[in-house]
Amino acid sequence: MALISSLCIFVLVAHFATTIVCHERPHQAALFVFGDSVFDPGNNNYVNTVASLQANYFPYGESFFKYPTGRNSNGRLIPDFIAEYANLPFIPPYFEIGKKHLVHGVNFASGGSGCLAETNSGFVIDLKTQLKYFQNVAQLLKNKVGETESKQILSNAVYIFSTGSNDFFAPLLTNSTFPYSHAEYIQMIMGNLTSVLKGIYKEGGRKFVMLN
Ligand SMILES: *[C@@H]1O[C@H](CO)[C@@H](O)[C@H](O)[C@H]1NC(C)=O
Ligand SMILES: *[C@@H]1O[C@H](CO)[C@@H](O)[C@H](O)[C@H]1NC(C)=O
Repeated sequence: MALISSLCIFVLVAHFATTIVCHERPHQAALFVFGDSVFDPGNNNYVNTVASLQANYFPYGESFFKYPTGRNSNGRLIPDFIAEYANLPFIPPYFEIGKKHLVHGVNFASGGSGCLAETNSGFVIDLKTQLKYFQNVAQLLKNKVGETESKQILSNAVYIFSTGSNDFFAPLLTNSTFPYSHAEYIQMIMGNLTSVLKGIYKEGGRKFVMLN
């Protein structure tokens, strides 16, 4: 295994304290983020949706980033704090990865989404689609750093989820008759969540965290 020495660049970003961005640290676990508005760092800025499922306007962002990033918060979200504590840069939204380093992870979360494709369908990136985007990233990573290292990154990475609550909120907010029993509905939600976890497992993921 090639040992790439850590290269740390000190970057002074406007409105931030001095931030340390470390590149090419193969032994530092990456963070991949999935789920809903609790974790969405701005993916819904790129979705043709409704204002209530976006946060790209003031006062969102006013106390930390000083502009509305798309986070449903005046400041940082849980994945931002985890990234800080782990000495990772803020994990970028999938739609902003562009030429950025993928080795630290990517955030696929979309405000309003649930485990089910029906939940706010057409206005969010559902969990299954988030998995598809993750599979794209796994391929990009492989192209970029090679099979051995991408495997190592994906198996060392932490996969964190906040998902499921919108599957319960969404039907409550519509007047459509609800065709499932509680047990059936739970089973559908868990079944879909399980297939997404298995999809990540298949790409090498082993460390999973559920917010609740
Ligand atoms: C749902 O039904 C209530 C009572 O009939 C009605 O006042 C409300 O406007 C309906 N909401 C929607 C979203 O259709
Ligand atoms: C996933 O959800 C769909 C509804 O979106 C449901 O028809 C299907 O049975 C669920 N899959 C599993 C494995 O539970």
